[in-house]
Amino acid sequence: MSSTYMPWAKLRSHATYNLATSGVAHWKLRDLPIRIEDLEISGPSFYGFKPLQQALARHRGVAENRIVAATGTSMCNYLAFSALLKPGDEVLIEHPAYELLIAAARQVGATVTRFCRTHESGFAIDPGAVKRAVTPRTKLIVVTNLHNPSSALTDESTIRALGEIGPRVVVDEVYLDAVFESAPRSAALLGDQFIVTSSLTKVYGLSGLRCGWVIAEPALAEAMWKLNDLLGVIPAHLAELASVVALGELPKILKNVRERLDRNRALLHRFFDSRHDLDAPRFRFGTVAFPKLLRGSVDRLCDHLRKKYDTTVVPGEFFEMPDHFRMGIGGDTQPLQEGLHRLGLALDDMMEN
Ligand SMILES: Cc1ncc(COP(=O)(O)O)c(C=O)c1O
Repeated sequence: MSSTYMPWAKLRSHATYNLATSGVAHWKLRDLPIRIEDLEISGPSFYGFKPLQQALARHRGVAENRIVAATGTSMCNYLAFSALLKPGDEVLIEHPAYELLIAAARQVGATVTRFCRTHESGFAIDPGAVKRAVTPRTKLIVVTNLHNPSSALTDESTIRALGEIGPRVVVDEVYLDAVFESAPRSAALLGDQFIVTSSLTKVYGLSGLRCGWVIAEPALAEAMWKLNDLLGVIPAHLAELASVVALGELPKILKNVRERLDRNRALLHRFFDSRHDLDAPRFRFGTVAFPKLLRGSVDRLCDHLRKKYDTTVVPGEFFEMPDHFRMGIGGDTQPLQEGLHRLGLALDDMMEN
């Protein structure tokens, strides 16, 4: 049982012009006010490091006993699935989806069923379609907000409607802060029906800290801490200390991220305007876009783009939509601009051949 996407992301997505990554470019240690004398290798981290729990609770506006700190959103999703699913249970996951959600659910023995977020609807969630896909064996509904791969935003009333269907709902909100002040409230504030996972990875460019968290009702949170005893045991304390500092810097980081994404999205939309061979729902927020290639093969395009133009995007096959591809706009503006130019050249080549 393994992911097909992750080996590709780790080993084959790299290029001089990398439009494959979904996160904002990495912040450097020197960009944060961390002094060596504030760091320590080991510390009192037993079911949470108090200063980090407090900082996360402030960040999300929830009580500390609802927060489980863990290694990235990835581990958070795994903990949530492990705590809520047993072999044979059904888990209803959006389509298209971030592949690791499907792989993690299968890893815990669940049967994965799907509901569609269609390109034509702008990858919106239709609670009616979700409801129709629920069966008596469905124990969990899983969505991302913002949606990976499209960046579609789901509003609060739709999320609430999902919560009313019956099964509990995991909302992976790792991209939600890229909506800035227009963001809907976190699903964590909408009731115990919801389990939210997130991290500082994607929007804040702090992936290496692996600062992730689950928000769930206290008894469930406690069950996940106990599960984490089998997996992460205790976190790297250096990363916990650095995460506390980073959480204090989020407003500053977010201002920078916003300027970057606004600038980069304008370039992306101008690029889409210039292409008749791509069809992409356009969104005001998010770090990724998911265009459909109207002519030719995405695999051939990706291959050609990489070999001739040293540029990468993510083939849609990893999201079970092989006529699409995913592009990220969280990188530096200059390489993005060049990457878009090169993507345009590769698309032109495809039309000639
Ligand atoms: C929807 C979604 N959840 C989780 C992750 C993994 O996040 P993390 O790096 O915090 O483990 C990703 C990474 O691309 C993602 O797209």
